[in-house]
Amino acid sequence: MKKTIYKPNNYSLNKAIEVLNQSGVIGFPTETVYGLGGNAYSDNAINKIYDIKNRPKINPLIIHVSSFKLAETLGEFTDTAKKIALQFWPGPLTILLNSKANNGISEIATAGLNSIAIRIPSNKIANLLLEKFGKPIAAPSANLSGTVSSTSASHIYDDFGNQIDMIIDDGPCLHGIESTIIDARTHKLKILREGSITKENIFRKTKLIINETSEKKIIVPGQLEKHYAPKASLRINVKEPDKDEFYITIGKSDNFTNSINLSPNADLSEFANKIYSALRELDDRKIKKIAIAPIPNSGIGEAINDRLKRASK
Ligand code: TXA
Ligand code: MG
Repeated sequence: MKKTIYKPNNYSLNKAIEVLNQSGVIGFPTETVYGLGGNAYSDNAINKIYDIKNRPKINPLIIHVSSFKLAETLGEFTDTAKKIALQFWPGPLTILLNSKANNGISEIATAGLNSIAIRIPSNKIANLLLEKFGKPIAAPSANLSGTVSSTSASHIYDDFGNQIDMIIDDGPCLHGIESTIIDARTHKLKILREGSITKENIFRKTKLIINETSEKKIIVPGQLEKHYAPKASLRINVKEPDKDEFYITIGKSDNFTNSINLSPNADLSEFANKIYSALRELDDRKIKKIAIAPIPNSGIGEAINDRLKRASK
């Protein structure tokens, strides 16, 4: 019985706040992927999140808030960081800042670092929840550590069952791929994780230039080589799948027997939106080998290729 899954309404939101206030853990929707949320001020709640996910404690969590005012109490916004926040929040962008001293955030949530990754999500239910709760919610993606993120409530249930106190089901996520993370601690901006907000989007809206970087791994401990992986083995950039492989394609493609086309119109956003669900479904069907067609490396394609590359290690 999936008795922990609730439709979003006043009753379930109030219940979620109760759970959060008691240092419990909830699954909740955002426009990127579902989060596994807890009170960011509470060591107890944060410990539970790491335990349930089986996440190494060196990997800090994103801190979600409902307002720029609250964000300002947590991190040091440079003028540049503020400009980006005001342009892209609420939305699928996480901003890495130097932490403000004594900001009250559990040190376990930030893995003892002196930086903090903050985001205001745009999903309506996430906003309502954050607003009603009034405190920051620390939330990694709602999946077992190292595996495919959850883009629906049932994905969370598949991973954790009744281990978490409640899941709010707001249907499939809008983007289906995790937020872009930008390091805005200094004026030398860096993208630490690609997402649906690209450096071109940021330039167009703010005229700020983002440099290429090869330092990602050091700054983001969570950006492990192997991550986002299904149980099946994954081969990427495949033009001709082997007979024993299930083939995931995009755009015009021949009719292969064991295959699925996630976007016949070659719409990268549609592909991003469906890929995690497809990988989870193939795991459920006990498919052992998956091959994925080449994905154009432009726009959100960069984020898709980043995730698929890690998933294929
Ligand atoms: O879209 C998203 O970002 C989703 C939703 C739920 O908001 N969250 C998400 O969280 O993807 P997670 O934990 O799966 O990925 C967060 C990434 C990790 O790679 C982590 O290492 C990095 O953010 N991160 C968080 N705080 C950091 C910090 N202080 N310094 C460096 N990296 C940090
Ligand atoms: Mg994750």
